[in-house]
Amino acid sequence: MMTVVNSQAAAAQSISNRPHPVDLIPMGGIVTVRDRLLELQAQGRTVMRLESGDPSFDIAPHVREAIEKALRDGHTHYTAGAGIPGLRKAIFEKLRTVNRIAIKDANHVLVTNGAMHALYITFRALCSDGEEVIVPDPTWTETADNVRLAGGVAVGCRTTAQTGYKMTAAAVEPLITPRTRAIVLNTPHNPTGAVLDRQTLTDLLELAHRHNLMIVSDEAYEHVIYDGLEHVSIGSLPGAEGRVISIYSYSKSYAMSGLRVGYVACDDDLLMERMAKLTRCTINGVNSATQYGAIAALTGPQDFTVEMNRVYQHRRDLLLKGLERLTFLKPFKPDGAFYVWAAIDPAWEGIEGKRDGWAMTHWLLDTFGVGSAPGEVFGAAGAGHVRFAFSCATDHIERAVAAFERM
Ligand SMILES: Cc1ncc(COP(=O)(O)O)c(C=O)c1O
Repeated sequence: MMTVVNSQAAAAQSISNRPHPVDLIPMGGIVTVRDRLLELQAQGRTVMRLESGDPSFDIAPHVREAIEKALRDGHTHYTAGAGIPGLRKAIFEKLRTVNRIAIKDANHVLVTNGAMHALYITFRALCSDGEEVIVPDPTWTETADNVRLAGGVAVGCRTTAQTGYKMTAAAVEPLITPRTRAIVLNTPHNPTGAVLDRQTLTDLLELAHRHNLMIVSDEAYEHVIYDGLEHVSIGSLPGAEGRVISIYSYSKSYAMSGLRVGYVACDDDLLMERMAKLTRCTINGVNSATQYGAIAALTGPQDFTVEMNRVYQHRRDLLLKGLERLTFLKPFKPDGAFYVWAAIDPAWEGIEGKRDGWAMTHWLLDTFGVGSAPGEVFGAAGAGHVRFAFSCATDHIERAVAAFERM
């Protein structure tokens, strides 16, 4: 018995003595908040789930039917690792007609386990040890984490409310070093809701050309955009060929978050080959039945997506109105995505001397039963902020606003 214990301890020590890239990334801050929310809920408290971005909507009936039919038809076996041909073709057509990206052919499209997996294989394909990738700061946490998992260094480009949280070429250029490989753009942006316009994207593409860098364009929220604004894909701009890796998700556009499907498109043959190898050795293809649902989602009626967007805009306006009543938060009006990013007023008295995003998140939970995410988990520029997600059911937002009004 003694020898077993000793050998276990020795093994644990030999693992912990060696640096490992996975140890560089945290377990996930929002998970901590979610656990507390669930704990409060179990104690009988009413809690409003504004902490994470999971669409409250059901999937469209034609998507459900396509998945059920795929199961009835026996499509329950391994598929081509890069995606079934019908889906790759449908994505290729969508990229060509909706995003206006002139990708070479359907072989330059890869079906992934959500945009998360697309980011993982992208950075693994792009980075060697210590190479740098410029990411927005604040950023969706997992973007920077996936750069680190690939052995790369995520270099934050600080954005502020004064410039509408837009990552511009002028802000990015001073961060470029001989080790920089790529610039990550995320429009519409999580967590701020900023949307990059055509000119900003044109300038960033020109910068990438000048420094021979790749652009990684995370467009997971391409359909969640307000006030009639246009979503522009940087891959559609002149000169984008071979320089842009475009990433999309079904999670937000079609409320298919749990079905785990996304895709990545790129004209660079070597990168595509690397990403195909990584897909084979990580997931070996997305769930077969889901892929049939994904064809139906892209080729069928788009009214569900349009309707969700209308509801999101209504929720955004409702939540903003409620937050504007709170003197200790300064919310930023999002042009897209389903988050309100809010700065904590320095005059807020805090809890136990703490005035950071974590303190605010806990205070909002205890005082109003309202979930949020602390800005600190989104990077250095997130300090002193909180993020509210309005992807939850409208009645959660109505009840949160009613609680704020009673303040
Ligand atoms: C900016 C951004 N990119 C990518 C994703 C990943 O989406 P999924 O893996 O569900 O497709 C998310 C999810 O919240 C996100 O906010």
